[in-house]
Amino acid sequence: MHAVGIVAAAGSGLRLGADIPKALVPLAGRPLVCWAVDTLRAGGAAEVVVAVPAAERAAFAAVLGPDVRIVDGGDTRTASVRAGLAAIGQDADVVLVHDAARPLTPPAVVARVLAALVDGAQGVVPVLPVADTVVLVDDDDVVTGTVPRAPLRRVQTPQGFDRATLVAAYAALEDGVEHTDDAAVVRAAGVPVTTVAGDERAAKVTVAHDLEIAELQVRA
Ligand code: CTP
Ligand code: MG
Repeated sequence: MHAVGIVAAAGSGLRLGADIPKALVPLAGRPLVCWAVDTLRAGGAAEVVVAVPAAERAAFAAVLGPDVRIVDGGDTRTASVRAGLAAIGQDADVVLVHDAARPLTPPAVVARVLAALVDGAQGVVPVLPVADTVVLVDDDDVVTGTVPRAPLRRVQTPQGFDRATLVAAYAALEDGVEHTDDAAVVRAAGVPVTTVAGDERAAKVTVAHDLEIAELQVRA
């Protein structure tokens, strides 16, 4: 099965607050985007396409090396993934869409997603259970109820899809509609999405504290 990875790396990283795009911020001396590309390859992706901020193409090309394809991302994650998809040939059977912001995702997670696709799934997401109690609040921040936790899952990346299914789902998306992940895009097109076990180490780097945790993880 020919698997192609797309790394969404075109965000600016406002919440991290670095003076460079988040995907270029170093973790143990290497940009986050390089870690993300490596994990896709190690997990079974034969090729990788990276969507980057258009103004930063040269900086990304300098760290990514020649065997990665770079495309201009868009203003939203949805637009960036769409740009990555447009660069993928018809020879790809499946697509793995990954966040540059999840640098320490173990290759085993990628392999589990791929295995589910080999087994015939059209869409696969890695998930983890929710450990905290989840509550609802009203406009005054007063708790109005507790959400049953058992059926809740936290969704990670890479998310895997049959290529033609993902292309069709993005094509069917109405202009201006944004989803926070790709599973939501295919589900909006009526495609079932299955789950495999995620991994705490695949946590997303969003704020500075997350990067500190990731540095500790690398050292451990
Ligand atoms: N992303 C993207 N294109 C965008 C916005 C986000 O490719 N226009 C990517 C980011 O680079 C990141 C992933 O989507 O790898 C998840 O997004 P997030 O963690 O929100 O990253 P940023 O948007 O960069 O951060 P922030 O929201 O704090 O600005
Ligand atoms: Mg964002």
